[in-house]
Amino acid sequence: MGYTDTHIPVMRKEVMHYLNLKKGDLIFEGTLGGAGHTVEIIKAIAPTGRVIGVDLDSQAISTAARNLEAKGLLKFITIVNDNFSNIKNILRENSLQFINGFLLDLGLSSMQISESGRGFSYLKNEKLDMRFKGETGIKASEILNEYSEGQLSNIFYKYGEEKWSGRIAKNIVIYRSSRKLELTGELIEIIKKSIPLKYQHRQGGHPAKRVFQAIRIEVNRELENLSNALRDGVDVLTKGGRMVVISYHSLEDRIVKDMFTSFTGMCTCPPDFPECRCNPVRKGKIITRKIITPSDSELLENPRSKSAKMRVFEKD
Ligand SMILES: C[S@@+](CC[C@H](N)C(=O)[O-])C[C@H]1O[C@@H](n2cnc3c(N)ncnc32)[C@H](O)[C@@H]1O
Repeated sequence: MGYTDTHIPVMRKEVMHYLNLKKGDLIFEGTLGGAGHTVEIIKAIAPTGRVIGVDLDSQAISTAARNLEAKGLLKFITIVNDNFSNIKNILRENSLQFINGFLLDLGLSSMQISESGRGFSYLKNEKLDMRFKGETGIKASEILNEYSEGQLSNIFYKYGEEKWSGRIAKNIVIYRSSRKLELTGELIEIIKKSIPLKYQHRQGGHPAKRVFQAIRIEVNRELENLSNALRDGVDVLTKGGRMVVISYHSLEDRIVKDMFTSFTGMCTCPPDFPECRCNPVRKGKIITRKIITPSDSELLENPRSKSAKMRVFEKD
C-alpha cells in the first residue's frame, strides 16, 4: 500500500534552519506525509534523537515508512496514525512528556491530490470524500447533500472567502432536489454555473478552488485541529524548543499568527472589545518577525509551494 507519486518538501532548508536541531532531540512532526522533511530531521538528530511522526492518512503513513526504510532511517522514528491535535495523548501513549521541536506542514500532499481518489482535486472527476483519514468522519458528499442552504453558504464564505457563496449554495440545493451530488465533476459544473463567466477567474485560480478548500476544512475540522495542536504543543515544548508551522491559506496563517502572538503575552482580542478577554500568558518569543516564503528558485522548481507561509515560535 501507500502512494507511488512523490511530494517535494516545501522550504526544506528554511525548516531545518529554523528548527535549529541538535543530536539527541525529540521532534514531534504532526504532518508526516511522504517523510520529505523527516529525512532531514533524522539526519540532524540521529543516532540519539527520535521523531514522533504523525499523519491521519494511513496511505501517507505507509509511504513515509517505505521511504524511510529505503534510506535505513526507520529505526529513528515512531510512526503514529492519528490526528496531530492529539499531541498530548500521543506523547503519553509513548511514555513521553516533552519535545524539543514541533513541525506542522499543513494541508495536503501532492500524492493525496494526484492519487488518493478522494476528491481533493478540482481537475479530476472523483467521489466527493475529502477525508484525510479515509475511514471515519463525515464525507464531503454528506455535507453537500445534507447541510441546509444557509449552512453551505456560510461554510463557503467563512472557510473559502467565496464571494458567490449564496448562489453556489442555492444551486446545490436545486441540483440535489432531483439527484444526489456525488462527484467532483458535478460540483464543479454547479460552481461554474453560479459564477458569471467574467468573474470566474477574478478571485484568483480555478473557480472551484475556494469552495473545495471550504469543504475540505469543514470535513477535516482543520482550523479547530490546528488551534488545539498549537495550544497543547506549546505546553510540551522544552525551553529553547521551536514550533515551525507552514500554512497554505490565510485562515490557517491567521490562527498561527494570533496564537503565536498570544504566546508572547500580547492581547489578540479584536480592537472593538472594551477589555481583554483572551488573557494571554507569555510562553516565549516569535522568531520570524516577517513570514518566511519560498525562494524564487523553489517556486520555479516546485510551483505548488506558491502559497506557503512559515512562522516560527521559540519557548522561553
Ligand atoms: C503537506 S503534507 C506533509 C508533507 C510532508 N511534510 C513531506 O514533506 O512529505 C500534509 C500531511 O498532513 C496530514 N494531515 C493533515 N491534517 C492532519 C491532522 N489533523 N493530523 C495528522 N495529519 C494531518 C495530511 O494527511 C498530509 O499527509
